[in-house]
Amino acid sequence: MRRKKPDTKQQWFKDAKFGLFVHWGLYALLGGEYQGQRVKGVAEWIMDTLQIPPKEYETLAAQFRPIHFDAEALVKQAKEWGMKYLVFTAKHHEGFAMYNSACSPYNVVKATPDGRDILKELQLACEKYEMPLGLYYSQAQDWHDPNGLAAGRDNSGKEYQFYLDHKVKPQLRELLQNYGKIALIWFDTPLETSREQSQELYDLVKSIQPNCIVSGRIGNELGEYMTTGDNFLPRLPYEGDWELPATLNDTWGYKRTDENWKQPDEVIRLLLKVVNRGGNYLLNIGPDATGAIPEGSLRVLNEVGRYVRENAEGIFGTRRMGYYPYELDWAELTWKPHKLYVHLMKTRERIELPNVKNQALQAKVLGSGELLEVQNTKNCEGIPTIVIFLPERLWQEKNYCVEISLKEEEPSFEEEIGG
Ligand code: GLC
Repeated sequence: MRRKKPDTKQQWFKDAKFGLFVHWGLYALLGGEYQGQRVKGVAEWIMDTLQIPPKEYETLAAQFRPIHFDAEALVKQAKEWGMKYLVFTAKHHEGFAMYNSACSPYNVVKATPDGRDILKELQLACEKYEMPLGLYYSQAQDWHDPNGLAAGRDNSGKEYQFYLDHKVKPQLRELLQNYGKIALIWFDTPLETSREQSQELYDLVKSIQPNCIVSGRIGNELGEYMTTGDNFLPRLPYEGDWELPATLNDTWGYKRTDENWKQPDEVIRLLLKVVNRGGNYLLNIGPDATGAIPEGSLRVLNEVGRYVRENAEGIFGTRRMGYYPYELDWAELTWKPHKLYVHLMKTRERIELPNVKNQALQAKVLGSGELLEVQNTKNCEGIPTIVIFLPERLWQEKNYCVEISLKEEEPSFEEEIGG
């Protein structure tokens, strides 16, 4: 058990709520298939899962032609989807650097035909649109480096410290010195990294950019915020700073055959649950080898983005919610001082919120500003209830938000749930 709740001390991160994760590397060229074999599980693990020898895998670099990658368009789009930061895979477990690295020629500038520095392009676009840029960096796993670790494999013959000193640290220095302000470093899968080793990486980051946040997966509880397991949503509000990394289908890296997209409604709900529990939702896209974003992701994100834009007031600037004794299948709740937001996820004719101790003063639909009739009453079981009557034209609508103005600063609820 962690003793102290993690705290980034960075207001932008606490306020962010929604971010874009971008998994892009050589694995995108394979799209989850190699020599007629389809990978089971996530596509960015294909090198390890199918045990492709490094010398063979390396040759992919010569085919990497990011003709559809447009950093500005991507960052602009992320903004339109309502996202407040972007995290890009500078080096994933495959070991290939998506930036110009002087200490390893196995990188996008030196080993691919067009020699484009993808990270530099992203940095400039992020600066232009004032989007905080975070970098995913696989510190322990590196299937290309002879001394990098591999999860679940025999790592006994490896000189892990040598790899840390000769690849990881020099690369982190490059990333933190040559690509402007880095908002956070997203370390991942620490495996057997010792506390001292995690501490060395932490100190290195801070010595170059003191405001750069270090993610939970640096290991040994040194992260400045809690990173949940992939797609693992905490059931209760969590007091420290935290983030949920999440996929839109069942892979991070591009997988040609994975069309198992979450529905926009489901994603909106997940976002609201994360927000309500005080965290950030870091939602992933995996561009294909050309840099194009899969259609399925665009379809979902455009819908989600519309909701986030239209109901931004009920999402951004909201606070972690305290205990609410009911689980509503038709709504998610968020709040900020003197406001309670009811996000309607299913069609309803009226809103009933039992067990609320507050007095509702006014209610309106976010977006249109339409005022609604509101009553502070008791339900048939004698439980204090806020009732809001929805106009007939909304009865068949869902995915909109009602803002209730409260007399009291904070919403509070009876713990007793029955009559
Ligand atoms: C995992 C995987 C990785 C992915 C990451 C995202 O730990 O190893 O492929 O990048 O989670 O959260």
